[in-house]
Amino acid sequence: MDRILCPLAALSIALGFSLASSQTATSLRDAATRAGLNFGAAVSGQSVGSGGNAAYKQIVSGEYNTAVCENDMKWQSTEPSRGQFSYAGGDRVVDFAAANTMKMRGHTLVWHSQAGWVGNFAGTREEMLLAMKNHIDNVVGHYKGKILEWDVVNEAVADGSTDLRNSFWRQRIGADFIDSAFVYAHRADPAALLVYNDYGAEDMGTKSNGVYNLVKRMKENRIPINGVGLQSHFSGSSIRKADIDKNIKRLAELGLRVSITELDIVDASLSTAPWSDLMDVCMANANCTAFITWGVYDAMSWRSNGGSCNCLIFDAQMRAKGIRAALLASMAAADPAIAERRKSFGMETSRIRIAPGLSAHAVGAGSGRYPTPFLTFGGGALIDIQGRRLEQRPFLPDP
Ligand code: XIL
Repeated sequence: MDRILCPLAALSIALGFSLASSQTATSLRDAATRAGLNFGAAVSGQSVGSGGNAAYKQIVSGEYNTAVCENDMKWQSTEPSRGQFSYAGGDRVVDFAAANTMKMRGHTLVWHSQAGWVGNFAGTREEMLLAMKNHIDNVVGHYKGKILEWDVVNEAVADGSTDLRNSFWRQRIGADFIDSAFVYAHRADPAALLVYNDYGAEDMGTKSNGVYNLVKRMKENRIPINGVGLQSHFSGSSIRKADIDKNIKRLAELGLRVSITELDIVDASLSTAPWSDLMDVCMANANCTAFITWGVYDAMSWRSNGGSCNCLIFDAQMRAKGIRAALLASMAAADPAIAERRKSFGMETSRIRIAPGLSAHAVGAGSGRYPTPFLTFGGGALIDIQGRRLEQRPFLPDP
């Protein structure tokens, strides 16, 4: 790009033009990178692997700086039978991302759906925790250093409620399965950012209050969480812009990043308004660090049901819709100071100081992006740096 820009700049100066026109972003990727935004799409290993469609791959690498696996990193894909791990699909996406200098989101470690054998695993609480820990150790360990942020727990809050969903995870472990999952993930890759991801929690309402309460308590208890994923599976020609803004801002007050993780908007009217409204909200908040669509083009959306929905940026023939121009305009209008803060929001490193004489080990040993201000004793009880007990229920200690 620099090679092109320099002669262009010289030419425009010689002709007396401003540089602004040569700085206009020509791709969504370019505009997003300038705005400090991780702009991505969900893809499959098959679609970006060697047999994948060339035009499709060109869109993915040309328009996006981030990728996520639509299904390839879920439990049923990565651990299809107990203790047997399979990374072929996920590896293809990671390789494609690396070859095209794109970032990766990891999706997802602990979910009640697409869980394969573990959904029917009739173990004790301890065995269930061990199964979860083993899965996280292996999958996060396999991708260590390659995943910017992981959706550690997916969809744990019940619909229309502030309570947790009565999933098999909750039934067999208890509500603290969430805390344990985050602690295990942090131990497995201390540098990865860890996210709680859910749907229907984008604006202000009962469920988003439930998600807010959950992550607030996690922060207060020093559980290593860095962000909230708002899936954003919308329908219709408008979104609740002001309420989404409010929600993102209250999460910022907790120091949390917000990722728009699975955006699609089913809207037969093809309005660009909900798309640019959502991007405007994101651009206005430095903690809105990611904007990811769930698929690339309409015909491949999970919301198409065999047909083709009007739900993504590119149509059934992979042609860009008006949404693309609307998103470019919104990103171009972003405040550069906010863009600068976005690039490092919630990624500060800080070191834990272990009180002298305390016979404990630090979770994450003070490394990585998350300040690790809590310790575990041999028995596994979670205490903070002042020795205050944070949780009555012990975490499974390291072997
Ligand atoms: C969906 C995939 O898009 C489909 O291909 C699959 O059949 C089912 O799962 N919330 C999530 C995603 O967190 O993982 C889901 O993805 C969509 C809803």
